[in-house]
Amino acid sequence: MAQDKKLDTKLVSGGRRTQWRGKLVNPPVDRGSTILFDDVAELRAAAPGLGKYYYGLHGWPTQWALAEALTELEPGAAGTALTETGLAAVTAALTAVLETGDELLMVDSVYGPTRRFCDVVLKRFGISTRYYDPLATADELGAMLADKTRAIFLESPGSQTFEVQDVPGICAMAKRRGIVTLLDNTWATPLLFPAISHGVDISIQALSKYVGGHSDLLLGSITANAEWYERVQRATWDFGHAAAPDDAWLASRGLRTLSVRLKRHEENALEVARWLADQPKVARMLHPAFESCRGHDYWKRDFNGSAGLFSFALKGGDSDARDRFVDKLEMFGIGYSWGGFESLVTPADPVRTASNPDWGGPLVRLQIGLEDPDELIADLARALEAYP
Ligand SMILES: Cc1ncc(COP(=O)(O)O)c(C=O)c1O
Repeated sequence: MAQDKKLDTKLVSGGRRTQWRGKLVNPPVDRGSTILFDDVAELRAAAPGLGKYYYGLHGWPTQWALAEALTELEPGAAGTALTETGLAAVTAALTAVLETGDELLMVDSVYGPTRRFCDVVLKRFGISTRYYDPLATADELGAMLADKTRAIFLESPGSQTFEVQDVPGICAMAKRRGIVTLLDNTWATPLLFPAISHGVDISIQALSKYVGGHSDLLLGSITANAEWYERVQRATWDFGHAAAPDDAWLASRGLRTLSVRLKRHEENALEVARWLADQPKVARMLHPAFESCRGHDYWKRDFNGSAGLFSFALKGGDSDARDRFVDKLEMFGIGYSWGGFESLVTPADPVRTASNPDWGGPLVRLQIGLEDPDELIADLARALEAYP
């Protein structure tokens, strides 16, 4: 494992073992289900794992190369399990650590479908969820722990409203109290926030976003430390989660350019966000690099930069006027997901039960792509002129 190499070098070399790629630069995309054994003795002796041929569910070099490359990006990680979507990575990780009767502490700014999984599915299996304010300190969260609390789930920055959490502080407290921590690290990727080295036990990514980078795949990953990796990997197989070879191959390819793409997303997003912040019709920026973002100081302390996804609040107006503003944009596609090369916009209507900040007006979420930022700004200016 190349833990001593710098991140940009790891992105280029990760997972490219000669025995997996032959004389080609890239590991191949292979398709299959059955792995053939020479005889019954070999079949009986076989066991699944990275580099061990067993059955399609457990992958082959196409998937192993990606898993190994992702593990190398996280100092302190023991391994990475892959799943068919980012949401499956979240649900597989949660079901790996929780049992009937347990309680989960869940950040209030979590991705909507994760929230639904807790409120509907985990509840059905006798696991309760209590939500906490994303700005809760480690001490405040420590005071919330009950005998049955088993895990703390973090997402930083949070979905839609981008609150940044005190991840190292919360994880250190959790470790002392014997509580497992899981983080949805999709926004930052290990490049902007190497989660395991900040004390997180289990780090989840929707590879569909920045790692894929081209809006053409669905995939998730769960990278874990030595204490949790085997259990998480086993749980993904027990539930039948697998990464399709084409998607795994595309994600491996995306990884090679992740650093340069992310840098450009960051620069373009900052340019657009700085312009928006100066507009009289904008009430507030919800971007971790801006002081107006809740938890901005944690971002300054812990992150290596910012990504291309953020929100802002329009001044005055209501959600209908906001929706008309969104409809007026011509350069931004209206649609879910993010992290691809193209700019996107969605109305943001966060659901909150443990925190209720006043954002100052209806929210708009922007995914800033790789287009010329001046043209994106001109488009936003046109739509703002007609608002409210
Ligand atoms: C923060 C976050 N986590 C997880 C997911 C789920 O990823 P996927 O779409 O691959 O299921 C998303 C998707 O939008 C997301 O925004």
